[in-house]
Amino acid sequence: MRTVVISGASSGIGQATAARFAAAGDRVFNLDVAPPQDPAPARPVTWLKADTADWTAVDRAVRQVHEDSGRLDVVIANAGISVRHGVLDIKEADARRITDVNLLGVLGLWQSAARLMAASGEGVLLATASVNGRRGYPYYADYNATKAGIIALTQTFALELSPAVRTACVSPGGVLTPMQLAEYTDEMLADTNARIPAGRHADPEEIAAAFFYLASAEAGFITGQELVVDGGETAGATTSVHGTAVPAHH
Ligand SMILES: NC(=O)c1ccc[n+]([C@@H]2O[C@H](COP(=O)([O-])OP(=O)(O)OC[C@H]3O[C@@H](n4cnc5c(N)ncnc54)[C@H](O)[C@@H]3O)[C@@H](O)[C@H]2O)c1
Repeated sequence: MRTVVISGASSGIGQATAARFAAAGDRVFNLDVAPPQDPAPARPVTWLKADTADWTAVDRAVRQVHEDSGRLDVVIANAGISVRHGVLDIKEADARRITDVNLLGVLGLWQSAARLMAASGEGVLLATASVNGRRGYPYYADYNATKAGIIALTQTFALELSPAVRTACVSPGGVLTPMQLAEYTDEMLADTNARIPAGRHADPEEIAAAFFYLASAEAGFITGQELVVDGGETAGATTSVHGTAVPAHH
């Protein structure tokens, strides 16, 4: 039974990922500012209230999990926030908060876990990046930059901590979660679906499956890498251009 810590597992991708590991019999801890949206999951997931922007609180929580479980096998830094705003309108406080949670939140959580994993000689560090870190997407400049930063953290942690610690990040395209639904009108969703070769958004379970594979021994030779799970969204040159329709599929 592995001990798995996931940040932002009260909702969306994190919740589905926690459920995936818990279903496999792993002991799962959820670091989240908010209580779980699913109050009665099929398999228990322990919620520890923590803000990933607060390195001291995160370190305390991670060390507590390690002490209670006697081990720490997999850490998935998934918590993230976004604000839709143009580059001319971004407010300093918003940009700093997004960076604190999305990028420095990954660094702090990974550092706390990596110290324990380096000492024990093994562990896997995973994170949720995004296709937004791979190319420009309008109205999310600060968010996009944090996701590109996660890809850089993934590479650097691997170089410094191999072979004891493996790293990888998953870059989802559009995933139907509360985060997405809160910001997109039905029309925007349909427009986005039309620009994804798969013709739809991902289910959170499809991202959870990628994390589950990357954490497994079968992925033992994968480190420092990004796994893109985007239904082909970034495969072509035009699919990410805002408002450009994709021709019908053949
Ligand atoms: N939904 C998508 O289409 C999509 C695409 C690519 C990447 N992502 C990324 O996936 C991750 C999860 O997003 P989601 O769509 O499941 O969103 P979501 O809003 O459904 O879930 C995010 C969770 O993170 C928690 N959280 C937010 N700030 C936190 C903080 N400071 N400390 C601890 N927990 C915090 C929230 O309470 C929530 O439970 C994010 O990093 C997001 O950027 C999402």
